[in-house]
Amino acid sequence: MITTDLHKAVETLMKGELVAIPTETVYGLAANATDDEALKKIYALKNRPFYNPLILHISSLKKLATIAAEIPSAALKLAEAFWPGPLTLVLKKQSGISNVVTSGKETVAVRIPDHPLTLELLSRLDFPLAAPSANPFGQISPTSAQHVYDYFGENIEVILDGGECQKGIESTIVGFENDIPVLYRLGSVSLEDIQRVVGEVLVYNQESGNEIKSPGMLASHYAPRTTTYLTQDVDAALNLYPDKKIGLLLFQNTFENSEVSAREVLSINGDFEEAARNLYAAMHRLDHLSLDVIIAQELPNTGLGKSINDRLTRASKKI
Ligand code: TXA
Ligand code: MG
Repeated sequence: MITTDLHKAVETLMKGELVAIPTETVYGLAANATDDEALKKIYALKNRPFYNPLILHISSLKKLATIAAEIPSAALKLAEAFWPGPLTLVLKKQSGISNVVTSGKETVAVRIPDHPLTLELLSRLDFPLAAPSANPFGQISPTSAQHVYDYFGENIEVILDGGECQKGIESTIVGFENDIPVLYRLGSVSLEDIQRVVGEVLVYNQESGNEIKSPGMLASHYAPRTTTYLTQDVDAALNLYPDKKIGLLLFQNTFENSEVSAREVLSINGDFEEAARNLYAAMHRLDHLSLDVIIAQELPNTGLGKSINDRLTRASKKI
């Protein structure tokens, strides 16, 4: 059920069941991170492969030392700059952290989410919450309680309703190699904002065949069921599909005159933050219209535009 009842959420987590939680990025599917049986329910319900580790959610920086065995100085700087907020740090784990959380890795991912309801929930628990995004593996992440309900219905006992997610795309993930920050996943904190705090950041170029450091960086992810194409040239793409039922996923308010079945504009004035906030809800809506194709418009590739393009690329096929 969808509820705002924190007491019920606490009770459900303590008995080893799953609770969907709101965060500023996307909704999470949470379990007691110290209860392996509860953690396995996350993988089962999401149909998530066991090699893909989970993010721990905590309510204060003080708790970080119970989770991470080492905290590089750049990590501390980033935590102080962005927590609570949409940044996940991958750090060497404390020995007590479950292998079901980390998929057997020596590192653990952790963040303090910036949502009042979930922070209150965490402060009432004496264990961290492990939570991936609350969607079936590979599908579009949920940014409202209703999205979660549409996916899982009553299979999640408690869906904690914290309204619409204010950031709209997942956290940015940063790990450390020889204490140098490495970007594992673009997200709601832009790469430029990370660089402003720590200077040099290593970024792997996946197209050049570098190792996938973070298993969530799979090429196909965040994907609607409707075939989606990403393009810089919407007019040309429209001409490729003359007889199709098309939905447009546009950054700004352009292409008013094109005859299409549906149109979503992420931000009329071209604001990246607004576009990020609207992205997944727009994708969910288009995906429910039985369209033949979705044509998505690439954003300018800077700041959050880059993070949004990353998600659109994984959601689509190349034309
Ligand atoms: O914004 C978010 O991060 C949301 C909310 C709910 O917090 N969570 C989220 O979780 O996006 P998920 O499971 O969809 O993505 C977690 C990512 C995966 O790509 C996983 O591979 C990576 O975190 N990850 C987790 N532990 C890791 C580790 N030890 N090393 C590298 N990557 C890790
Ligand atoms: Mg996810």
